[in-house]
Amino acid sequence: VESITVDSERGAYPVLVGQGLTARLGEVLDEHGLPAPRAVVSNTTVGPLYGREVAATLGTRAFFELPDGERFKRWPQVEELCGRWLEASIHRGQLVAAVGGGVITDLVGFAAAVYLRGIDWIALPTTLLAMVDAAVGGKTGVNLEQGKNLVGAFWPPRAVVADVGCLDTLPLRQLKAGLAEVVKAAWIDDHELLDLLDRTIEAPSDLPPERWQELVARAVAVKAKVVEADEREAGARQALNLGHTIGHALEAATGYGRFLHGEAVAWGLRAVAKLARRRAVLGAEAAARLEGVVARLEPLPGLDGVAVDRVLEHLGHDKKRAEAGVAWVLPTDSGVILGQSIEPAEVRQVLAELAAEGGANGCVAQE
Ligand code: NAD
Ligand code: GLY
Repeated sequence: VESITVDSERGAYPVLVGQGLTARLGEVLDEHGLPAPRAVVSNTTVGPLYGREVAATLGTRAFFELPDGERFKRWPQVEELCGRWLEASIHRGQLVAAVGGGVITDLVGFAAAVYLRGIDWIALPTTLLAMVDAAVGGKTGVNLEQGKNLVGAFWPPRAVVADVGCLDTLPLRQLKAGLAEVVKAAWIDDHELLDLLDRTIEAPSDLPPERWQELVARAVAVKAKVVEADEREAGARQALNLGHTIGHALEAATGYGRFLHGEAVAWGLRAVAKLARRRAVLGAEAAARLEGVVARLEPLPGLDGVAVDRVLEHLGHDKKRAEAGVAWVLPTDSGVILGQSIEPAEVRQVLAELAAEGGANGCVAQE
């Protein structure tokens, strides 16, 4: 088991990465001085795979399955959960557990932040994306009609238990989408991880668990370092938005129906590599290296038919926009540079270049 400690305003918490951790969760938590969760929340997909087993292992009867999907990361589910916890007499000082992907960890973490003005929770992320990103760093929240993650709280968990064995059942497309976030983390602060990815990404479904353990733990270590430096995103944490400015805009401009988040981030990484080349903050060799690793995530849903005006319009809506415009994160040879401003015309050009290259790179629409 790899253990990464994350310092947070609510105290330090461990991120444990290993195999078979869910089956012996009670013991694992005990080793870290944590009580067994009194309620377990999962969804209708992950519940039958892992959530029910976790609840049974812990002997908790307060087990809830929410409907599966980003569209259920909303207020009514928070209210429902809080009501269910009240019925189950969950009180302050007790712990609840979230078993699922980023939708479940964001939602349950947020419900925990507001239930009785805040109770403790732990995250058992079951997607690669949740293991390396969503479950780590304390951001929790739900979506509004107007956009994603517009309501939330910084409410770090007491522990994150990432059982890489859960990746066995994760569809390949989801695995690759999660790998985009691993590439992002590697570029920010672990270029050896980038080499490792380059060597191992070929057939993600065949990767042995010990390799997943290494990839996940290294990506978590990068994220941990960044959020420890700037938990509430006053500055340095913006590094984690590498590839996300365009990524979010692509997702929004296509009605969240074409790209998985990580797939949009993969396009975003390509875009910022080009923008950084134009600014000469990224050398040709480094750009080729980044593009080479991202190419391994193909096939990605294509950019064909994406309305560039809508992408630009959504860039204006980016919640991380600075007063003077969107503050871009660009890759450099050794990491990232923050707070860059980019003209809409440049974005337009780069998107046109990417769309034109799409065919040559074997990008296909997968709607
Ligand atoms: P998700 O939670 O929707 O999971 C993807 C799909 O995989 C779902 O259908 C889920 O039920 C299924 N699934 C989960 N684990 C599985 C497994 N082991 N085997 C088979 N199927 C499984 O999506 P996600 O990509 O994990 O997370 C996306 C969410 O995370 C978004 O809402 C995003 O806003 C949020 N997020 C939050 C942060 C943060 O810092 N809080 C960071 C990144 C993303
Ligand atoms: N996913 C970006 C962050 O946690 O800040």
